Amino acid sequence: MADRYLRFAGTAPGRFLTRRLGLPQPAPLHRFSPGRPALGGGLLHLTAGKPEFDLAPVLARTGLPEDTGTPAAVVLDATGVRDVDALAEVHAALHPVMRSVASSGRIVVLGSPLDPADHHQAAAQQALEGFVRSLGKEIGRGRTVNLVRLTDAGAAESTLRFLLSPKSAYVSGQVIGTGAAQEAEVDWERPLAGRTALVTGGARGIGEAVAATLARDGARVVVLDVPQAEQDARRVAEELGGTALALDITAADAGGRIAAALPDGLDVLVHNAGITRDRRLVNMPAERWSPVLEVNLASVLRTTDALLAAGALRRGGRIVATASIAGLAGNAGQTNYGASKAGVVGLVRSLAPRALAEHGVTVNAVAPGFIETKMTAAVPLFIREAGRRMNSLAQGGLPADVAETTAWLAHPASGAVNGQVVRVCGQSLLGA
Ligand SMILES: NC(=O)c1ccc[n+]([C@@H]2O[C@H](COP(=O)([O-])OP(=O)(O)OC[C@H]3O[C@@H](n4cnc5c(N)ncnc54)[C@H](O)[C@@H]3O)[C@@H](O)[C@H]2O)c1
Repeated sequence: MADRYLRFAGTAPGRFLTRRLGLPQPAPLHRFSPGRPALGGGLLHLTAGKPEFDLAPVLARTGLPEDTGTPAAVVLDATGVRDVDALAEVHAALHPVMRSVASSGRIVVLGSPLDPADHHQAAAQQALEGFVRSLGKEIGRGRTVNLVRLTDAGAAESTLRFLLSPKSAYVSGQVIGTGAAQEAEVDWERPLAGRTALVTGGARGIGEAVAATLARDGARVVVLDVPQAEQDARRVAEELGGTALALDITAADAGGRIAAALPDGLDVLVHNAGITRDRRLVNMPAERWSPVLEVNLASVLRTTDALLAAGALRRGGRIVATASIAGLAGNAGQTNYGASKAGVVGLVRSLAPRALAEHGVTVNAVAPGFIETKMTAAVPLFIREAGRRMNSLAQGGLPADVAETTAWLAHPASGAVNGQVVRVCGQSLLGA
């Protein structure tokens, strides 16, 4: 599973050779660890156009010192960009600082929602997406570029804290919409303390990392997995001080059994269990189609409906589903999987506003790209290498990257983030 190319490219001869041969040059990413919890540098706050909000207090609370020399975080407030002329200010603000942004640094551009009544504003704000996605592709050195659309400064805090930290190391080229702020008392050290989180498919891989990260953030975790994986589920649960639930999520009564196992209710529901049964459609019998749709989509719909109807998700609750870039961009040999993961996106977008209005619960999805797991280690070498390199960071992500993104969406202060599909793909070249 080790990415030997990444290690070689980090050595002096590796750097020389990869540059000479025009090969991808992945940089080691600074990921969150208790010993290195923050970016290794300060914050530069820039503006283009007349800003819509005063973001200084929110940015001050990130704890990043002001830095105009070699910033590790650059925030460009472009919420007030309303026409093409103002886009020149985006260029004027960022062009002079590009050489000085630290390795593994972050650029976050703040925009406004597109105004349907003003096509000049809409054009200028949409232009920011093309700008951010292009800059993400060229910036290199483990640096990321994302766009957050704001309607309210207070609603942005958890999102800014996430994007301006090592926790978002593999999230780049994303456009994240935020709505109105939801009141929440927050302990930023252990935000999920006193909350219960259930992770389906939590016995291994990405699900195991999600369970560990939510437990780190204070949650009592319930690790759900198929009865065949019960031993692993128990091991993970014991390590995290949680409990295991042996249950096939496709069981017709899975929602009821989860509700029965958690009589006090649930705060965070992570639909992570997923399977692949790859084959081109021409060779795909129904036996390979149905289980993928059943595990990845039908059971997600069924358990979500059952738990919401039973009132098992407490107000302030969070549902995080797992899509995939295969569901956004499509992938040869994965018509079943791509359909199931696109279905998850449809579920999230449709349910999110209603779930928030009726239950006070947000619904979002993570869409992983190439993540280093047992699943991807089994992929043939050449395809695996292509998967690893075909993204702006020129390397695969780790289960922890998906887990950190999930933890941000599960955060009590993330109530303004709803109906979003956030790719954790290092800005994969596949799809938008
Ligand atoms: N690894 C990647 O690169 C990648 C990329 C995109 C999306 N994803 C998605 O991320 C999720 C996790 O992927 P992973 O790589 O960790 O996979 P994995 O195969 O390592 O783990 C999946 C877990 O889900 C469990 N599971 C399967 N069917 C189940 C069922 N019916 N009921 C309960 N549990 C069940 C499995 O036992 C296993 O523990 C999946 O939804 C997958 O589609 C992964």
